[in-house]
Amino acid sequence: MSDQKVISEDGFHTISSSAYGVTYHSIYGALNESITVFLSAGLQFQILKGKKKISIFEMGLGTGLNALLTLIDTADTDIHIDYTAIELHPLKWQDASELNYINELNGQQWKPSFQSMHTCPADQYVDLTSSFRFRKYHGDLLTTDIEGRYDVIYYDAFAPTAQEELWTSAVMEKMYNMLHQGGVLVTYCAKGSFKRALKSVGFKVEALPGPPGKREMTRAHK
Ligand SMILES: C[S@@+](CC[C@H](N)C(=O)[O-])C[C@H]1O[C@@H](n2cnc3c(N)ncnc32)[C@H](O)[C@@H]1O
Repeated sequence: MSDQKVISEDGFHTISSSAYGVTYHSIYGALNESITVFLSAGLQFQILKGKKKISIFEMGLGTGLNALLTLIDTADTDIHIDYTAIELHPLKWQDASELNYINELNGQQWKPSFQSMHTCPADQYVDLTSSFRFRKYHGDLLTTDIEGRYDVIYYDAFAPTAQEELWTSAVMEKMYNMLHQGGVLVTYCAKGSFKRALKSVGFKVEALPGPPGKREMTRAHK
């Protein structure tokens, strides 16, 4: 069985992964989840603190929706973004181009940047705009050395039920070390054992209201 495109409840596509038995986003709304968990709780949190240069690390580039929304959200502002993502199973552009994001967002002008996110060479920065640098690693979060320090981590791994190994204290220690002081890790996951793992490596853990279908999400502060 192969991966399938699925329409989530807000009309935005997600992908159902046959290998992991889960979807890439909440079926209650891919756009809503991305905005609530990653853009509002992560990106906007740092912007509201007055930061003008923000470095973001995304665990799991997947469809590229979080990256695309971050690009659009900060375009025509004075915010500069350095965006690094990692992905173990990169989507083919053929598949990513069939997602309805560009149409739903009325964002034809962003299509070349969205295409570059999926087709650019790994491990090196490309300038998608004059204020948005993008780099992706093709590899496994568990074994890849990730350069740099970050203000925000979008932690968008598949859920612990599918990939328990990505939610351990050892991985959270790696995330902690990748953040600047004052940096935050945001994720849709609010599982007790995960929050204990965060606390055990030094994070201060905050519960926030989650996106539709999820009572709580997590923001962890360094
Ligand atoms: C929840 S999906 C990410 C959704 C994505 N942020 C988006 O907007 O489409 C999780 C992603 O993590 C990737 N992944 C799974 N295991 C990984 C690993 N060990 N290292 C890096 N990426 C991994 C999957 O291939 C998948 O694309």
